Amino acid sequence: MIAIDVAGLNVRFGAFRAITDLSLTIDYGEVHAIIGPNGAGKTTLLDVISGLTRPVSGRVTLDGARELTRLSDTAIARAGVRRKFQKPSVFMALSVGENLEIGGLGDASLIDETARLIGLADQLQRPAGTLSHGQKQWLEIGMVLAARPRVLMLDEPVAGLTDGETDLTAELIATLRGPDRAIVVVEHDMDFVERIADRVTVLHEGRTLFEGAMADARQDRQVIDVYLGR
Ligand SMILES: Nc1ncnc2c1ncn2[C@@H]1O[C@H](COP(=O)(O)OP(=O)(O)OP(=O)(O)O)[C@@H](O)[C@H]1O
Ligand SMILES: [Mg+2]
Repeated sequence: MIAIDVAGLNVRFGAFRAITDLSLTIDYGEVHAIIGPNGAGKTTLLDVISGLTRPVSGRVTLDGARELTRLSDTAIARAGVRRKFQKPSVFMALSVGENLEIGGLGDASLIDETARLIGLADQLQRPAGTLSHGQKQWLEIGMVLAARPRVLMLDEPVAGLTDGETDLTAELIATLRGPDRAIVVVEHDMDFVERIADRVTVLHEGRTLFEGAMADARQDRQVIDVYLGR
């Protein structure tokens, strides 16, 4: 079942075409990676889905019914479409627990459950500013999880993480997947992507270059030429 249906999307910044005639679906139950070189339009795609950037044409439909390009970013978030940004933006002066509370978790047992999921159960009192980079990324994922999102979008969740932290993030994503959730991951770490993703879409200059399994993307001549071989 399709969660997000992107059809004929075009995004421009002035004369620059950031996304051109892009169509793809994000299905419930899958982990769908969006990969490609710097500037390919990956973050821009997430910005359009979350209502932060408006396309010049095309449609983004949630559950075959709601046209997201007509909704505000707040309404889209309320509809269960949530995202972790490329740069972590946790509140440094607040504790882990307070950050989770701001994420929308009023309930103490939900805070505990989420803290366990992200490996920070014994760090609830700790100021977020003192966490490692990896822990900050997980806290940010936890803040997004608070809303129990149906569509979860993670922009570069393992950038700057150690190998051990990257492994733990892969395990976390495996735990978060489920039949009622669609997960979108933008990432440059190809081994991580191969481990977590059912399907990858390779973007290049705002267009789809490849769609399929990561193992097949690694063998694709065009993908190697513009991205993997560099
Ligand atoms: N608000 C904006 N105004 C003008 N140009 C923009 C804006 N946002 C993005 N761009 C341009 O659009 C292109 C796509 O940017 P985007 O951030 O989507 O790339 P990306 O695939 O996420 O790259 P990276 O892997 O480096 O994060 C880039 O050339 C970028 O400079
Ligand atoms: Mg980006």
